[in-house]
Amino acid sequence: MTDKKFNRTLVTTALPYANGPIHLGHFAGTFLPADIYVRYKRLRGEDIIHIGGSDEHGVPITIRAEKEGITPQQVVDRFHNLQKDALAKANISIDNFSRTSLPVHHATAQEFFLDMEQKGIFVKKTEKQFYDEDAKMFLSDRYVTGTCPVCGNTDANGDQCENCGTYLSATELINPKSKITSKTPVLRETLHWYFPLGKYQKQLEAFINQHEGDWRQNVINYSRTWLNSGLTDRAITRDLSWGVNVPLTSDDAKGKVLYVWFDAVLGYISSTKEWAVKHGKPDTWKKYWLQPDTRLIHFIGKDNVVFHTLMFPAMLMAKNEGSAEQYILPDNVPASEFMNIEGKKFSKSRGYAIYLSDFLEKFPADTLRYMIAMNYPENRDTDFSWKEFQSRTNSELADTLGNFVKRVIDFTNARMGGVVPEVAENQLSENDTHLKSQILTRVGATDTEAQVKPAFTITEYYEQFSIRSAVFETMQIAGLANKYFNDETPWKSIKENPEKCKRTIFVSLNVCYSLAIIFYPILPDTSKKIFRMLGIEDDIDEKIKQGAIKWDDVKTFQLRGGHKLSGTSEILFKKIEDADIEPELKKIDQMISDAQTAEQAKTEQVKSEAAPPAHETAAVAKPVITIEDFEKIDLRVGTVTACEKVPKADKLLKLQVRIGANERQILSGIAMHFTPEEMVGKNILVVANLAPRKMRGLDSNGMLLAVEGSDGKLNLVQPQGDGINGNAVK
Ligand code: MF3
Ligand code: ZN
Repeated sequence: MTDKKFNRTLVTTALPYANGPIHLGHFAGTFLPADIYVRYKRLRGEDIIHIGGSDEHGVPITIRAEKEGITPQQVVDRFHNLQKDALAKANISIDNFSRTSLPVHHATAQEFFLDMEQKGIFVKKTEKQFYDEDAKMFLSDRYVTGTCPVCGNTDANGDQCENCGTYLSATELINPKSKITSKTPVLRETLHWYFPLGKYQKQLEAFINQHEGDWRQNVINYSRTWLNSGLTDRAITRDLSWGVNVPLTSDDAKGKVLYVWFDAVLGYISSTKEWAVKHGKPDTWKKYWLQPDTRLIHFIGKDNVVFHTLMFPAMLMAKNEGSAEQYILPDNVPASEFMNIEGKKFSKSRGYAIYLSDFLEKFPADTLRYMIAMNYPENRDTDFSWKEFQSRTNSELADTLGNFVKRVIDFTNARMGGVVPEVAENQLSENDTHLKSQILTRVGATDTEAQVKPAFTITEYYEQFSIRSAVFETMQIAGLANKYFNDETPWKSIKENPEKCKRTIFVSLNVCYSLAIIFYPILPDTSKKIFRMLGIEDDIDEKIKQGAIKWDDVKTFQLRGGHKLSGTSEILFKKIEDADIEPELKKIDQMISDAQTAEQAKTEQVKSEAAPPAHETAAVAKPVITIEDFEKIDLRVGTVTACEKVPKADKLLKLQVRIGANERQILSGIAMHFTPEEMVGKNILVVANLAPRKMRGLDSNGMLLAVEGSDGKLNLVQPQGDGINGNAVK
C-alpha cells in the first residue's frame, strides 16, 4: 500500500544482457509490468522515475563475441541499440536506459569496490579454479559447461543450471568441459576477492522478515531458501579481460575484473546518475538513492531474486557502514515467474524465443501489451499463445473497448454535430448514475455508493503490484460501458426521447474520457487516440506530468456540454485474421523442431564418444599433390549472412554466404552439429570454385570446411582477423 512516509519512487528494471535482443520473457517479466505501474503512478501525480539499461559485462557477452569473431564492445553496441529501439517501439516510457560500459558506471562500481576494500570488508582467498590450458585462460562461470549435480541436465553452466535453476559453482559440475575448446579443464590456483555475505546473515534475515506479508511469497521463499542454507563468502572478482577492472595497482589485481553481478546491480545507481546529468541537475540522483523517503522497487524475473533481496542489499549495507551517505534498501522486489510460449519454456539457448521488435513489426504495441498484461506471470508461470492473442485482441480490444468508443464517437459526430450535449447532472437517470458508480467502485476512487464491491479495486491492485487483476478489472469497465450503450439504445431514443438520448451520450462520452485515463497505463497509444477523438489534442504525457489529467478525474464528468470533439473517428483495433497468425504458428513449430534436432544431435554426439576417435582411424590416405594442384583450389573466407534448415532433410543446412561483393548459396550436411542461428555471422572457409551441384533440388555453390573432433563433433574452420572476408587463403 502507499505509505505516507514515502515522497518519491525509484523503479528499476533488471538490466538485460546486451548479448541478444529483448524477447517476450524480458518484456513480460520486467519492462511491461514496470511501465504499467509507473504510468499509473504518474497519473496519481507521484514523483516517480523508471531507471534501467543494458548489462554489458559478463561471460555471455564475451562468448557471443568469440562465436561471431567480433569484439565484446561491438556485441554490446549492437544489442544495446536494438534493445533501446525495441523498448521505445513498445512504448516503455523508461526515464533512462543506460549501459554498464559507460565511464560513469565503471567509476561507480570501482568506488563501491574501493570503499569496501579500504574498510577491510573483503576476504582474499586463493582457490583452485578451472583453467583451459589450450586457450590459456581461467574459465569463469559460463565458460564451463557440464552435467548438473542436482538434476542431471547435461547442459548446465558453470554458474547456474537453467533447467532446475540451481546456482552452481563450476567445480560442482560433473564432466566439466571448456566452452572455448571443449576440452576438460584443469584446476589451477588463483587469488580472488570475496564478499563476506555470511557476515550479513542476521541483518538480511531481519530485512526479509520485515517484508513478510508485504512481498510476494515466491520472493520471500527464494530468499529464505538461501538464508536457511547459510550464507557464505562470494567471489566478486574474476580472471577476465572484459568488465570493470579491479581498481588496484598491486600485482595480484592484474588481469582481474569485478564479477558481473557485483557491477550490474550498481548499474541502477549509475543509470540514475546519468539520468540526473541529462536533466541538468547532476546531484538529483542522491535524492533517489540516499533519502529514506524514497521508495525503491526492483522489477525482476525470478532467476534474479537473491541478487536483489540478499546480495545487493548486503552490498549497500557494507557501503553504508561508517558512512555519512546512507543508501536506501529496496522496499519491494516484484519478481515475476516465467512466461512460456505455446506451452514451451522460453529459452534462447533452446531456440524458443519471440523477439519484441519482430513482434512489433507485425502487430501494434497495445495489442501485445494487453495480451501480456492479462497473462502477467505474477504468481505462476503463464503461457503466450498466438490463438489467445488473436481472440483477446478481437473480442476484448476490438469488440468491447474499440467498439464502444467508436460507436459513441460516431453517433455524436453523426447525430449531435460532434458536440457534447448539454445535460444537467441532477437529471441523470438511475441507469446513468449506476454506470458511473460501478466504474468508481472498480477504480477505487473514494466517493462511491457501491452495492457490489469487487475483492479489490484497480487502485489497490496496482498498489500491490497485481498488474493482471488491475488490467482485468479495467477491461470489465469497458464491458459495462458497452452493455450500458446497448441497453440505452440511443439510436431509438434520439427520436422517441431526445432528452434521454442526450443523457446517454453525455455519460458515454465521459466514460470514453474515463477509459482513456484508466487504460493509459496499459494501452498508451489507444488512450491517446481516444483523447484525440474527444477533441483533446495536447501532448497527453505532458498533461499528465503537469497534473492536468489525473487518475482521480474519473470521479467527475470531465467533458462539459458544448465541448467540441475532433470530428474524426479512428478504428482503435484492427481484427487479427487467421492468416495473420499462421506464419507465426509455423515459426513456433519450426523453432520446436530445430530445438529437437539440436537435442538429438547432442545425444548422437554422446553416443559417438564411445566410438574410436577419428584421428586414430583415419590414416593419411591421399596421394601427394604438387603446389600447382593445390593452387587450383580457390579457398576463400566467407561470412554466413543467413541460414536455415532444409525441410525433410535432417542433416542439411542451407546457408547464404557472402564472399566479398557476392552472395551465394551453399548446402552443407552439418545440421546435426550446428543450429541455423549459431551459423549466422560466422566467418568460415569455403572452397569457392567447386563445381555447382544440386542437393535435394537446391543449388549448392561451394563447400565449407570443418574438422571432426575426438568427440565426434564437427568444428568449423573459422579464420580469425579483421577485414578478411572475401580474401583467399595463401
Ligand atoms: N543481466 C542479468 C540477467 O539478464 C540481470 C541483471 S539485473 C541487475 O539475468 F540488477 F544486475 F542489473
Ligand atoms: Zn539442474
